[in-house]
Amino acid sequence: MEHILEVKNVSKMYGTKYVLKNININISKGEIFGFIGPNGAGKSTLMRIITGMTTPSDGQVFICGHSVQKDFEKAISNIGATIENTNLYGYMTAKQNLTYFASLYPNVSKDRVIDTLEIVGLKDRMNEPVKNYSLGMRQKLGLAQAMLHEPQLLVLDEPTNGLDAESVIKLRQILRKLVAEKNIAILLSSHNLSEVEQLCDTVAFVDHGSIIETRTMNKIKQETSNSARFRITLNYPNYSAKMIYLKFNIPVEVAGNSVLVPCQETLLPKIIDALRVRDIQIYAINVETKSLEDVYIDIIKTHNR
Ligand SMILES: Nc1ncnc2c1ncn2[C@@H]1O[C@H](COP(=O)(O)OP(=O)(O)O)[C@@H](O)[C@H]1O
Ligand SMILES: [Mg+2]
Repeated sequence: MEHILEVKNVSKMYGTKYVLKNININISKGEIFGFIGPNGAGKSTLMRIITGMTTPSDGQVFICGHSVQKDFEKAISNIGATIENTNLYGYMTAKQNLTYFASLYPNVSKDRVIDTLEIVGLKDRMNEPVKNYSLGMRQKLGLAQAMLHEPQLLVLDEPTNGLDAESVIKLRQILRKLVAEKNIAILLSSHNLSEVEQLCDTVAFVDHGSIIETRTMNKIKQETSNSARFRITLNYPNYSAKMIYLKFNIPVEVAGNSVLVPCQETLLPKIIDALRVRDIQIYAINVETKSLEDVYIDIIKTHNR
């Protein structure tokens, strides 16, 4: 498979401290790759190295086969990025900003500027100076700037920071559409797990400068659905929990007027029958799956063991 981005054995030291330790990542066409971890984990540093803004202490980054460190211009022509505060000019309007950035590329048309503003939902505000923009609007304009020259790889550092819920949904749609229609690759970072969960195909969990685990979202989903449990709301929770435990040998938890039953769904009808036979009133049954957050906590725990 063709890799748009290859990060090979990248490390970074500031002074005597390792901020990144031997990072390896491959991202293919059509893939949305999420880099997740707490503040200070090293996400922005890695993105700065990928985009050539910072040099690694060790290792190399290849974009479409070109080394960012050795063949900067060729490598970087394939990338669009928003990292921390993009260099937007506050006194200029959004349209003027993008027109300026468009002039830096050999073939970005005036129409493309307007189209891009429309894609990110800023067209009706494009003639206002950027200094009047909210954080969320600046984020959108940063994204517009990054995608202006239709790069093969988008690198987005915490792209949902400052966006309201509606804008997050919109951003997700924009990114999905780009990947589906243009077959580009996206690397994004986030400290928000539920966001990553809904957008990424692959996630790398990063902590203290190391990737502690890389998993596909499919694998995570499989894992979380295997760990599903049923919340059954009923009238005699303590009695019911004991009965289910004794009859089916399942460790049941009581939570208020519910019992939490971790079992395969094939067993559920039998449990319901057993409750009904004993005249227990069942008010509701809900499926609860593990969230990415739970998976993350498991991974961190295993790693620190
Ligand atoms: N220019 C720098 N000089 C020294 N330390 C830095 C520099 N940039 C980042 N760091 C340190 O590197 C670590 C990772 O930072 P960063 O990559 O910004 O993390 P994240 O984006 O995951 O929050 C932090 O401990 C930060 O203080
Ligand atoms: Mg950061």
